[in-house]
Amino acid sequence: MIDKIKEQISEVNAFTADSLDAIETFRIKYLGKKGILNDFFAEFKNVPNEQKKEFGQTINELKQAATLKVETLKEVLENSQSTEQVYGDLTRPGNPIVLGSRHPISIVKNQIIDIFSRIGFNVSEGPEIEDDWHNFTALNLPEYHPARDMQDTFFVQTNPDILLRTHTSSVQVRYMENNKPPIRTISPGRVYRNEAISARSHCFFHQVEGLYIDKDVSFADLKQTLQYFTTELFGKSKIRLRPSYFPFTEPSAEVDVYWGLETEADYRITKGTGWLEIGGCGMVDPNVLTNCGIDPNKYSGFAFGVGIDRIAMLLHQITDIRLMSENDVRFLEQFKSAL
Ligand code: PHE
Repeated sequence: MIDKIKEQISEVNAFTADSLDAIETFRIKYLGKKGILNDFFAEFKNVPNEQKKEFGQTINELKQAATLKVETLKEVLENSQSTEQVYGDLTRPGNPIVLGSRHPISIVKNQIIDIFSRIGFNVSEGPEIEDDWHNFTALNLPEYHPARDMQDTFFVQTNPDILLRTHTSSVQVRYMENNKPPIRTISPGRVYRNEAISARSHCFFHQVEGLYIDKDVSFADLKQTLQYFTTELFGKSKIRLRPSYFPFTEPSAEVDVYWGLETEADYRITKGTGWLEIGGCGMVDPNVLTNCGIDPNKYSGFAFGVGIDRIAMLLHQITDIRLMSENDVRFLEQFKSAL
C-alpha cells in the first residue's frame, strides 16, 4: 500500500498543466472529497498498527506534494497571463516618449547663473515671504519711503512686518549677515509687487540680483562685470550707465544695453532709440554694509538687479508676460534648451 502512495507522489511531482481547468481537475482528483487522498485515509483503519506511522507520514507527503503542485502551477499560469496583459505584443513599435521642455524663465535664469558662475559667483536663495528688516529696513529704506507704500507691497494679512518680497535684495541681506567678505553671489528668484496686470507687467515676476563685496571694489569693476554679462547673454558689449537713485546703493545707475537699430523689431523694442534698459545697479551704500555686519571702512561692493521675464521676452520674442504664468502647453513646448 505504501508503495502505491509513493507511486502517486512521483506522478504528482511529474504533473504539468497549462490551463486552469487542467489544474482544477488535478486538484479534484487528489484533494477533492472523493479524491485519491481521502481514499488512502479511508484505508488507514485497515493498516496494521506497526505500519500506521509510516503510512500516515507518506499520505501527508502526498497531500503536501499535491497542494504545492496546485499552487505553483496556478502561480506560473497567472504570471504568464499578466505578463501578456501588461506588455501585449512585444514586437509592436514603441509609443513615442513626449519630452518635456524647460520654462523660458528657467532657461534664461540658468543662462545667467552659468555666465556668472564662470567669474566666481555662487547662487544664493531666500524665502519669498520676508520680514520688513530684510526687504526694506536693512536696505536703507526709510520708514516713509514710497516703495513701502501699500500700492507696491503685498503684506501678509494684517501684519505689517511680514510681506511678499518685492526684490531679491532681501536674499543679499541674508547672505551678508551669514557670510564674511569676499562675497560674490547672485540671487535669482520670484518677487511680488502690487501692480496692475497687463501684457508688459505682472504682480509677480523674476529677478537676478548680484552682489560683490571685497576690499577695493570700484565702480569700474561694476561696469566691467555688467559689460561681460551683456556680451555673454546678448552678444552686445556696448552699455551705458545712467545716474539714478536706489536707497541701497550710492551712487546708483540704470543699465542700458545698446541693442542697435537694424531691424524693425529693434525700433519697436528700443522705442526708436537703439538703447534698452535691463536693470539697476550701484555701489552698496555704507549703511547697508553696517546693517549687515560688514565694516564699510574696510570693504566696499557693488550690486545690480535685472528682470528675468523681460529678458526672456526679448530673447524669445514673447509679446505678453502673462503667457509666462498660464501654463499653456502650446506655449511651453516651443522652448528647448540644454541648460
Ligand atoms: N532691487 C532693485 C529693484 O528691485 C534693483 C537693484 C539691485 C538696484 C541692486 C540696484 C542695485 O528694482
